[in-house]
Amino acid sequence: MAALMNRRQWLKTGALAAAGLAVRPDAAVLAQTPLTPRPFNKPIRLHSNENPYGPSAVARQAIQNAFDEGNLYPSGSYNELATMIAEQEGLTRDHVVVGAGSHEILRMTAMAYGLAGGEILTAYPTYEGMERYAATIGAHVHRVPLNDDLNISLYEMERRATQSVKLVFICNPNNPTGTIRPTTEVEQFCEEVSRRSVVFIDEAYYELVSDPTYATMTEMVRNGHNVIISRTFSKVYGLAGLRVGYGLARPDIAARLRKFRTGSSVNILGVRAAMAAYQDQDFVLHSRAKIAMARQYATQLVRDHGHRCLDSHTNFIFFHLRRDIRQFRDTMAQQGILVGRPFPPYLDWCRLSIGTFEEMQAFADAFQNVMSRP
Ligand SMILES: Cc1ncc(COP(=O)(O)O)c(C=O)c1O
Repeated sequence: MAALMNRRQWLKTGALAAAGLAVRPDAAVLAQTPLTPRPFNKPIRLHSNENPYGPSAVARQAIQNAFDEGNLYPSGSYNELATMIAEQEGLTRDHVVVGAGSHEILRMTAMAYGLAGGEILTAYPTYEGMERYAATIGAHVHRVPLNDDLNISLYEMERRATQSVKLVFICNPNNPTGTIRPTTEVEQFCEEVSRRSVVFIDEAYYELVSDPTYATMTEMVRNGHNVIISRTFSKVYGLAGLRVGYGLARPDIAARLRKFRTGSSVNILGVRAAMAAYQDQDFVLHSRAKIAMARQYATQLVRDHGHRCLDSHTNFIFFHLRRDIRQFRDTMAQQGILVGRPFPPYLDWCRLSIGTFEEMQAFADAFQNVMSRP
């Protein structure tokens, strides 16, 4: 088993290349990072795929400034955020739906497409937000198991997407596996399946992917297909607690979704924080670099212990624990480290979120300790 790397070795691992940065900051630049890690406190949160460096200093300032707008209803500010996103994506403001986290976009879609009594097709396991809500309102959920590589089988999804299926949910990158499907395959899938069903592409981790074979499906939206995309400010932007996400869809679809907003949606602090974070590319760049390095460290750690670990494109890894995850989760929690929930049917796999370097080292110590016991 390899000895654990110290910070200096870690910076030298070449992991920056894996970060896929347009401009690759070297170790010296990273040493002057504008990121402030969350304080090293227990329990250590390696269970919810949060960004341990957020909110950025710029977003914090925007939140503070927004106090002065606290007496105003925020609906006008949604347009400002939507306009900003639309310009960046080469779409119009009418293509953008702002929501209380991307979770709200998932829910709006479930409602708008009459999933009550309808049919939804989803991979299994994948992010459960859509299927849980759909089931709550009476939908019939069809699950398509992952393939042998633990990736979404688009072939099988397409085969199962019959006329009676109203919505097909694809999470790319997928949660909990962290795997991606290549652009050309997803494009073909969308072209074909969106003729008969709505195709929903969840891109919550889109900003973290550096693999050149991966791309967003915004082009499908631009070209008028029956495709909805969701994104979030909860991950790379580090604003999970502020609940801001958005959907991208053809204007008529977007208008339909807006009618199903499940409440008053995002508050003014969230909107202003998101607007500031969206423009704070320095923070995004450095977050990606730090996350990529810590992910490489964690991947190597578990592989050095002989565990199969999937190649992740996100801020979490999924590895074969070869023990019951429920028991492992409890034992780790007793040591002050929270790891991911069980993802049936992979009950001997673990989803581990990527934290700060210090947190990953604490995980490494506890992991070695726990795994050395029978
Ligand atoms: C794939 C995926 N989609 C959506 C969400 C919901 O995120 P939020 O509502 O914070 O945008 C998550 C949260 O972890 C996720 O992993």
